[in-house]
Amino acid sequence: MRLGEYRQDISVRFRYPVIFARNVFDPADGTLREVFTEDGEGGRRRVLCFLDGGLAAARPGLAAVVEEYCRANADVIDLVRTPRTVPGGEGIKNDYRLLMEVMDTILEYRLCRHSFVLAVGGGAVLDAVGFAASLSHRGLRTVRMPSTVLSQADSGVGVKTGMNLHGVKNSIGTFNAPWAVLSDFALLDSLPFEHWIGGVAEAFKVALIRDADFFEFLTGAAERLRARDMETMEETIRRSAILHLDHIRRGGDPFEFGRARPLDFGHWAAHKLEALSSYRLGHGQAVAVGVAIDAWCAVREGMLERSVFDDLVQAFLRCGLPVYHEKLELRHGDGRLVLLDGLEEFREHIGGRLTLVFPDGLGSMTEVTQLETGLVEEAVAVLRRAAGVRVPG
Ligand SMILES: NC(=O)c1ccc[n+]([C@@H]2O[C@H](COP(=O)([O-])OP(=O)(O)OC[C@H]3O[C@@H](n4cnc5c(N)ncnc54)[C@H](O)[C@@H]3O)[C@@H](O)[C@H]2O)c1
Ligand SMILES: [Zn+2]
Repeated sequence: MRLGEYRQDISVRFRYPVIFARNVFDPADGTLREVFTEDGEGGRRRVLCFLDGGLAAARPGLAAVVEEYCRANADVIDLVRTPRTVPGGEGIKNDYRLLMEVMDTILEYRLCRHSFVLAVGGGAVLDAVGFAASLSHRGLRTVRMPSTVLSQADSGVGVKTGMNLHGVKNSIGTFNAPWAVLSDFALLDSLPFEHWIGGVAEAFKVALIRDADFFEFLTGAAERLRARDMETMEETIRRSAILHLDHIRRGGDPFEFGRARPLDFGHWAAHKLEALSSYRLGHGQAVAVGVAIDAWCAVREGMLERSVFDDLVQAFLRCGLPVYHEKLELRHGDGRLVLLDGLEEFREHIGGRLTLVFPDGLGSMTEVTQLETGLVEEAVAVLRRAAGVRVPG
């Protein structure tokens, strides 16, 4: 028996800048300082900095550079302790002891909801440190400084944090908009090639379903990207990040209450392949393969021109991304591709009905609710040939 009801109705606005820059830790550069003082509140802002261990190892002295910057701007920045280095890479997203340590550090230094966590690193560190910051006092101000191509072009600009549990990727996490995202292109110099090129797959992904011009740009830029041409990479990152941001803003569903996940195009296969490779294959590399698989299926469903698929595959190969991996061919006892379990896992992750985003002509997208498994089989064979690999066994 319902005795009464009052309908609550709240809208909360999130605004944050995504800034592209170079050498923001130069003591004379005002960018970071302006980010912290944007609230106009006055006084010194308490800041706790976490550094990605892989980044710190590739750039000895980075912690000292951060400290020097904060000293030079001590009128507004109170760096509460020397930057804390945390392990870089996917491992941090499985490590709940470290999550506790990060939260302990936040409490130990008495950070409040007006204090800042400055997270500098790849997508994994931003996800894990961002998660800890979002739980502490129900959400501290997080300034993200993505330091990989993937995190600058895609994962670092959005509103999600996450960790893995029992081997299930991103099964734990929060929606938490950052205070600001500051992408410093100079940080990318020290990236190993795998992580330099990996993020480019996400740029192709979003171009294929949202922006035909950008797709043309990328196919024309493949060799320059492979040769680490910085100007080309900067344009790639900027355009990709803006497409991701536009989607989050205009898609009408920033917190993913609905089922379709346009930014997850190609990701059902990518996530499965990452797991099948025991995470030895990088996310971006897995995304290249996953996007190529779904692009082939789209061709066969009459949703994409064959020539676009060919351009995509050739561009991936020219820029140094894979389109095939031997684990794609793993089979269950009954002959079924293990890869196909990824469809079911993806369905579970989004809840209920399977909804995949597919291209609907170059630069547009639509949703499909089923995928013919025979087409996936075919895609694997087509991509094996494209990669020049002979039939296994
Ligand atoms: N939150 C989201 O919306 C979202 C979206 C997509 C992906 N992601 C997540 O992002 C993660 C992948 O991020 P990633 O591709 O940035 O990889 P990553 O964070 O695993 O970093 C890759 C490696 O590069 C090192 N590194 C980072 N910056 C460096 C630099 N400038 N120089 C040298 N080494 C450096 C790291 O220590 C690590 O070993 C995955 O966990 C994925 O789930 C999150
Ligand atoms: Zn991705």
